[in-house]
Amino acid sequence: MEAVNKENVLILAIESSCDETAASVVKNGREVLSNVISSQIDLHKLYGGVVPEIASRKHIEKINQVIQEALDTAETTLDEIDAVGVTYGPGLVGALLVGVAEAKAIAYAKGLPLVGVHHIEGHISANYIENRDLEPPFLCLVVSGGHTHLVCVRDYGKYEVIGRTRDDAAGEAFDKVARAIGLGYPGGPKIDKLSREGNPDAISFPHAHIEGAPYDFSFSGVKSAVLNYINGCRMKDIEYHTADIAASFQKAVTDVLVDNAMRAAGEYRFSKLAIAGGVASNSALRAAMKKACKERDIEFYYPSPILCTDNAAMIGAAAYYEYLAGTRHGWDLNAVPNLKLGER
Ligand code: KG4
Ligand code: ZN
Repeated sequence: MEAVNKENVLILAIESSCDETAASVVKNGREVLSNVISSQIDLHKLYGGVVPEIASRKHIEKINQVIQEALDTAETTLDEIDAVGVTYGPGLVGALLVGVAEAKAIAYAKGLPLVGVHHIEGHISANYIENRDLEPPFLCLVVSGGHTHLVCVRDYGKYEVIGRTRDDAAGEAFDKVARAIGLGYPGGPKIDKLSREGNPDAISFPHAHIEGAPYDFSFSGVKSAVLNYINGCRMKDIEYHTADIAASFQKAVTDVLVDNAMRAAGEYRFSKLAIAGGVASNSALRAAMKKACKERDIEFYYPSPILCTDNAAMIGAAAYYEYLAGTRHGWDLNAVPNLKLGER
């Protein structure tokens, strides 16, 4: 392994695990010189969710121009880049493959080290970008469209997952409930907005806790309860208020997220807590977590919305610490759709 003795390390990072084609140039893990995201949302929303085949095709179309834009915005070129970081899992296999193949091609052509990054490690690392003082250890709640994980971040690159969802991810539940009340895809931001006009205590939806697994989550029950509530109203011809449903559902989900995170922080004695992933943009979750942390004297960290959603800057931050730790992938790096956090 080559020694890292440069004052400034520039990472070109690539992310294509789902429906965002993204590239970024990150200096020393925490300074974002560019963060280009080409979203395919408008395309997928016609189908009510991400269509994997369309996602892969769009990544292929966009990836070169997204990378060029990231280099141009950062006022740099591939000649100045020190390493290429790329998400290699988890995610949609065809989508991941586009980024992985691109990263390998660039790294090979320019003789650069290749650093594969776990997508969740990226989400967690988004917190390092705007919080220059944040260092492990801390507890991180990762809530996205595909994942709901409670993670002990022991050190850079050292993770212990202590809680996970048994069924739907938090974002998935938001998206499904949004569809049921006619809000369209992606539902999370729409439920967040509509909830501001509703009463979170109007309807009591279930708060699932799992016997013997105190930090695990389950959101399929609350999702079904919302669907049953709507069907019940329709059958009895009772008028229902979508804003109240949205606010009450959002409260049921955020209550459980905050409750599990607070118990884990207490049990594991963490004095710092971070949130990450698309759902970490949720205003009710941020407010409730902020209040709960303040009451317990826990330092609370959260990324800006642009760094919560899928982006490559977070992959650059994670790749930097992996690079410092000596992680190097070979030309046989493959996409791993079900990659586990902490696996190599
Ligand atoms: O992290 P992300 O961009 O992609 C994945 O890795 O999955 O997360 C996307 C998810 C979607 O389910 C979306 O509805 C949800 O994050 N989301 C939100 C909000 N903004 C995005 N959920 C609740 N409230 C929001 N404000
Ligand atoms: Zn994500």
